[in-house]
Amino acid sequence: MLTTDWSARMGLRVPIVNAPMGGVAGAALAAAVSRAGGLGMLGMGSSASLTKLTTELRDLAELDAPFGIGLVDWVAAAEPGLLDAALAARPALLSVGFGDEFWWVAPAREAGVRTATQVGDLAAAQRAIDAGVDVLIARGAEGGGHGAPRVGTLPLLTSVLDRYRVPVLAAGGISSGRGVAAVLAAGASAAWVGTAFSACLEASVSPAVRQALLTARDTDTVTTRVFDVAAGYPWPETLPERVLRNAFADKWDGREAALSDADRDALAAAVAAEDHRLAPINAGQGVGVLDTVESAADVIETLCADAARLLGRWAGER
Ligand SMILES: Cc1cc2nc3c(=O)[nH]c(=O)nc-3n(C[C@H](O)[C@H](O)[C@H](O)COP(=O)(O)O)c2cc1C
Repeated sequence: MLTTDWSARMGLRVPIVNAPMGGVAGAALAAAVSRAGGLGMLGMGSSASLTKLTTELRDLAELDAPFGIGLVDWVAAAEPGLLDAALAARPALLSVGFGDEFWWVAPAREAGVRTATQVGDLAAAQRAIDAGVDVLIARGAEGGGHGAPRVGTLPLLTSVLDRYRVPVLAAGGISSGRGVAAVLAAGASAAWVGTAFSACLEASVSPAVRQALLTARDTDTVTTRVFDVAAGYPWPETLPERVLRNAFADKWDGREAALSDADRDALAAAVAAEDHRLAPINAGQGVGVLDTVESAADVIETLCADAARLLGRWAGER
């Protein structure tokens, strides 16, 4: 049985948390992860709305296990009622990422909800600690989706663990039992896993996205702002996203200022048509190990059984 002090305190059977992936981690994935003993997180992403959150929460109503909610800071700030609705749902963990103001910590504390945020370097970790965030997610540059691509997972995780006493979850490139074993052995309280869940049966992605994730190699990702700039999203410059490389990224990454209205329109049309020759697919470097579509429960079983075997072998040899 794989467990940590934090996972036991949280009422989890395994120290695995699915990353709250906007558009991918809806109620189906969160419920499947929680039922399998991990912490299922609803990901509200950059297109979050109060209506969408309310619908997802209704779909989780029957769940008899802890779950969490992940919001994007600048979306929650702009969408009236989103934070209040998230807090009213009494999540076991509220993660708000991609901002530096921490305006959401006091209301969460008043509501008795534990807070978490992703950090990409020690300065960000210090800001989160100063703001009173309960749990840090050390998110390395290997990770999929948006994040500060400043430090790799292991150097980031180990320096955050050395410096702070709060629970630290590890994120970025953890797609195998070896990865889970490595971060738990280092002292992480759990693994925060995105890409490895993004192709599973309960993820709300199309068959074309699943196929692209299964065929991608570890070298097929790139961090870029090009899709956010083209779509006009107000993501901060310091937070590019890691995506599968495609023709649009190859052509425009680093040349965003030269994008014309026609290029932007072509991207918007491709996104609407789910044509991923141009439209983005978020994924981390751990995408290279994905080769089958499994249920979230099977992903967790493999991650944890392999990690337990590796950690047990090491313990036995000492
Ligand atoms: C498809 C996808 C969507 C994501 N969307 C969000 C999001 O909406 N909010 C968030 O906090 N993080 C999001 N992330 C980032 C994850 O929280 C996490 O940092 C990352 O998945 C960890 O690395 P890994 O993908 O290598 O496991 C997303 C990641 C992926 C792969």
